[in-house]
Amino acid sequence: MSIEFAEKIRRLPTYPTAGGYALGDEYAMLASNEAPFGLLPGVHDAVEGALRNVNRYPDPSNMRLRQALAARFDFAPEQIAIGSGSCDILLSAAEALLEPGSELIYAWPSFSVYPHMAAASGARAIRVALNAEHAHDLDAMLAEITVATRLLIVCNPNNPTSTALPLAEIERFVEAVPRNVCVLIDEAYCEFNVLDDPDASLELVRRRSNVVLLRTFSKVYGLAGLRCGYALCGDERFRVAVEQVRQPFFCNALAQAAAEEALKHQDEITKRVEQTIAERLGLEEELRGMGLQVADAQANFLWHSLGSNGDVDAEQERAILDGLAERKVLIRSGNALGRTGWARTTIGTPTENRRFLDALRELI
Ligand SMILES: Cc1ncc(COP(=O)(O)O)c(C=O)c1O
Repeated sequence: MSIEFAEKIRRLPTYPTAGGYALGDEYAMLASNEAPFGLLPGVHDAVEGALRNVNRYPDPSNMRLRQALAARFDFAPEQIAIGSGSCDILLSAAEALLEPGSELIYAWPSFSVYPHMAAASGARAIRVALNAEHAHDLDAMLAEITVATRLLIVCNPNNPTSTALPLAEIERFVEAVPRNVCVLIDEAYCEFNVLDDPDASLELVRRRSNVVLLRTFSKVYGLAGLRCGYALCGDERFRVAVEQVRQPFFCNALAQAAAEEALKHQDEITKRVEQTIAERLGLEEELRGMGLQVADAQANFLWHSLGSNGDVDAEQERAILDGLAERKVLIRSGNALGRTGWARTTIGTPTENRRFLDALRELI
């Protein structure tokens, strides 16, 4: 006899880890799309200040952070949901919106947590293949909507392909979605997208109550280790629902303080974005120069083949990734993300990027 688990435990995938945690500074960690930058000014002091009160629970309403975000985006604090990372909001949205008999539509390959949302809730997952440009096929997604659809996710820019759609296309898509279906636009990497002003999508939320924008402090703000994300909700009942399904005090005090402070440093964010984009363009060119295929990138990572498209099988891909790891460079396997022979590489510091290129050149 052994303990028995819930049915969903058989369905739930385990999150693919890069195997690179706590490896130390000698690794170029280009596998998790984090920012390579240090703390934004003021964040260290803000966290230290919050540390003095950690004998107390954090503010359960996250009010100061919600107010800071509300002021920045000109939204009501009631329309802003906070999470312990934006993943927390994704999983809570699954619990709040989905159940057996309902359907969730997302593109594939896309963020690995979306399949988890269906498996955890018992909803049916409808995966819609990306188009030949590795981007969302919005018409094909629209065609999958049924009376059972509760949630549609558009990841813009998309993880792992880094491709983005112009906002005008997303607007047309949103107009065509029935108003009882929640459209969640995952904008974890929106700051790096130069197709549109990252804040242009806010208008969509103002116009359409079924739209939710999901954003995070884990990427350009450099706070992945503290876990803090947020959602801008067209309908404040989305925030209430995701709060209902979670434990109280879901966002810790250090994360709240750090995020509130980080928001004040938009000039620094602009510099980070410019630096990342300059590195991204350089890396793209180098990879193309090596004969590799690279998807049009709008995030802080690249989606590229490891040979000319289609000629690297799973075993060869593993050998290249192992070879990179031996050279202290970690990137994410395409095979694990649904496309053998491809890989996702985060833009690191200039030194890390150089090390990646040199190592890859030796291996392919
Ligand atoms: C598309 C996308 N959404 C959400 C997240 C979650 O980020 P976090 O939970 O750290 O906010 C990630 C992280 O990699 C991501 O790639």
